[in-house]
Amino acid sequence: MTTVPVSPLSLPRFPRDFLWGVSTSAAQIEGAVAEDGRGRSVWDVFAAEGGRIKDGSDARVATDHYHRYREDVALLRELGAGAYRFSVAWPRVVPDGDGPVNGAGLDFYDRLVDALLAAGIAPVPTLFHWDTPQALEERGGWLVRETAERFAAYADVVAGRLGDRVEHWITLNEPAEVTLLGYGLGQHAPGRQLLFEALPAAHHQLLGHGLAVQALRARGATGIGIANSHGPTWSASASEADSEAAALYDLLLNRLFAEPVLLGRYPDEELAALLPGPVAEDLKVISQPLDRYGINYYQPTLVGAPGADGAAAADFGGIRLPPELPFAPREIGGYPRTDFGWPVVPRALTELLVTFRERYGDRLPPVVITENGCSYEGIEDGERIAFLDGHLRALHAAMASGVDVRGYFVWSLTDNFEWAEGYARRFGLVHVDYATLERTPKASYHWLREVLREQARG
Ligand code: NOJ
Repeated sequence: MTTVPVSPLSLPRFPRDFLWGVSTSAAQIEGAVAEDGRGRSVWDVFAAEGGRIKDGSDARVATDHYHRYREDVALLRELGAGAYRFSVAWPRVVPDGDGPVNGAGLDFYDRLVDALLAAGIAPVPTLFHWDTPQALEERGGWLVRETAERFAAYADVVAGRLGDRVEHWITLNEPAEVTLLGYGLGQHAPGRQLLFEALPAAHHQLLGHGLAVQALRARGATGIGIANSHGPTWSASASEADSEAAALYDLLLNRLFAEPVLLGRYPDEELAALLPGPVAEDLKVISQPLDRYGINYYQPTLVGAPGADGAAAADFGGIRLPPELPFAPREIGGYPRTDFGWPVVPRALTELLVTFRERYGDRLPPVVITENGCSYEGIEDGERIAFLDGHLRALHAAMASGVDVRGYFVWSLTDNFEWAEGYARRFGLVHVDYATLERTPKASYHWLREVLREQARG
């Protein structure tokens, strides 16, 4: 384990009102899946199927945050976080996705929000971070329009309970991953392998976002955003075939999810023609003005046309891509890698933000980096410090060149259930011993605390 001495004092100064936070999600930390009336989620069912999660684990206990949230809030307070992005588990609040509301489920988030506020931390709930109620999945999940409507009804319920104390809302987390990994490739819940026929899941999530924005606005919310995953897409060469493949990947990862929200249109007419329902009408709902645009950034992707050398990256960053896809991610050489194998390329964050500003101009609301982080083993996690230091500098560079960025959230507070990877990937600032559930702050936690103290000194 290398320890990289990066002084917390040497970082450039961020604006005084910059929102410094940490992100988590319910399905990855809460556990307590059968308590207080919670319904089943697609991830409960997926993990129980066997063979789906690489280490054979599931999230029935996870970090037991449901019972230990006070300890986790204390860690946040001690860190000096100004905000905490967590997700509300839809099946805890509406166990069947439709029908009766579970008051005991809402009570948990009520307690969490109060504990955060008492610690001086702004709560930032995400309404959907991948845990669709299983009962809705059995009726088609995000492939059907009804799920978008049910989502908006649930958003209204949560806003009704928490809206008096919550100033910042996130509707969806990474609808691209749910579409690609959940419905396209089957490597995440609900495990469908529909390839391009998964596209309705993208449209219905985006519609759900728009309907939820309406529901939140009706409750008086003024700080609403979405958390989309984005990263620069680099072409493997200047050849036409590689450039076209890279452009398609960029379209599917970035533009397909940004443009309906920011511009009110899909980036490609052929693709829009594959989508169900009154798409033009829906786009009006999807593109209502947002207060913030959340970006989860982890890595750039190098993409070429499928071919002999494309096969080399058929398993990239834990995702297995079938060879019949019209693009093939390649290995990015020359950069350090996280334990997940993801290249560490801070300057790609600057590039991403500058590109978004160029592409979308004034249609891009102020940005918040809603997730950024890395998986490394160990408590003396110098690599994580180097990762965060590099990305904060890259973020600052984007801001210096005119991109309006208002906040930065590290993924994640504690180690947690990393979806199909199980517990093998550790993204936390705080180590979790899964045998005892003991939390131990890592070197990166202490480093970030110093950064936040220094930044607060002003
Ligand atoms: C993004 C997802 O939102 C989060 O749930 C996941 O753990 C991180 N990426 C790391 O893969």
